[in-house]
Amino acid sequence: MIHGIFKIKMHQKKNQNKDVVHEPVLLQEVLQCLSPAKGESYLDLTAGYGGHASAVLAQTGNYRDSVLVDRDQNAIDELTQQFGSTGISLTHSDFLSASADLVNQGKHFDLILADLGVSSPHLDRDDRGFAIASHGPLDMRMDNRQTLTASDIVNTYSETAIAEILIQYGEEPKARQIARMIVENRPLKTTDELAAVIAKAWPGHSRVHPATRSFQALRIAVNDELHLLTEALPRWLELLKPGGRIAVISFHSLEDRLVKQAFKEVGGERYDADLRLITKRPITASQNELVHNPRARSAKLRAAVKK
Ligand SMILES: C[S@@+](CC[C@H](N)C(=O)[O-])C[C@H]1O[C@@H](n2cnc3c(N)ncnc32)[C@H](O)[C@@H]1O
Repeated sequence: MIHGIFKIKMHQKKNQNKDVVHEPVLLQEVLQCLSPAKGESYLDLTAGYGGHASAVLAQTGNYRDSVLVDRDQNAIDELTQQFGSTGISLTHSDFLSASADLVNQGKHFDLILADLGVSSPHLDRDDRGFAIASHGPLDMRMDNRQTLTASDIVNTYSETAIAEILIQYGEEPKARQIARMIVENRPLKTTDELAAVIAKAWPGHSRVHPATRSFQALRIAVNDELHLLTEALPRWLELLKPGGRIAVISFHSLEDRLVKQAFKEVGGERYDADLRLITKRPITASQNELVHNPRARSAKLRAAVKK
């Protein structure tokens, strides 16, 4: 069986627009940092469409002791198709619950990867409600078993609470004005309606859509992303075997700060540290990668080895 396909195409049902492709970011850099060896076990906390996983597992060949986690049912379906017959464990869960379970089971891994955030299929499918320039429901849940949606925040939270979210997670300079306009225009039903309201706070042209920061902030709030990362990071370090390597790719400065801090607390240059940093500074995408994968633009990779 060949798992070495790094570009995954998901053919969608008729009304679910477009062929969807997720191309793994910083793939060669991840492989260099993890340097997978034959027989090593692998924990992928955000396995998505299996791009990184297939490359790592092609080198380790150890499916039986490896675990792939994702909180999105579509990703799990795709992973089941790719890896279902290999004996690997697939876990449909957020990475905090999955990590806590693995710690409780006394599991340890040679290689751990977390490639945070959303996948291209999330952004490309209108019905998931992540995309600005489309007509989709205000949803934004990565795990659709969860009850809280973007619509709940936009249509029921107070103006102050919405502004806080836009400031904290989006660093949006016009957060208070946007929050006021959202509240004045409620109820809002679709992503394009919301984007149009936000755009009014930013007249004129800009390179990126004026709603980009607000959409990112809402997504982070809906999926409780920073809280889960903060709580999960220490567990990931616990799950590493001595000599094991961990790599984390983040797409947001707040996430990168959390990863940097967690690695620093148990690692760095201290003689008694439990972790040695493989990356002193985060690795970013090469010009070459950016040409064919613009999503890699804000990706930052940090990696460490457990002593
Ligand atoms: C950037 S994609 C990963 C892509 C993957 N590395 C690949 O090569 O296909 C991020 C994935 O992580 C999942 N995800 C994000 N946050 C998560 C969390 N807290 N727990 C579990 N999965 C999460 C998303 O559903 C998405 O499928």
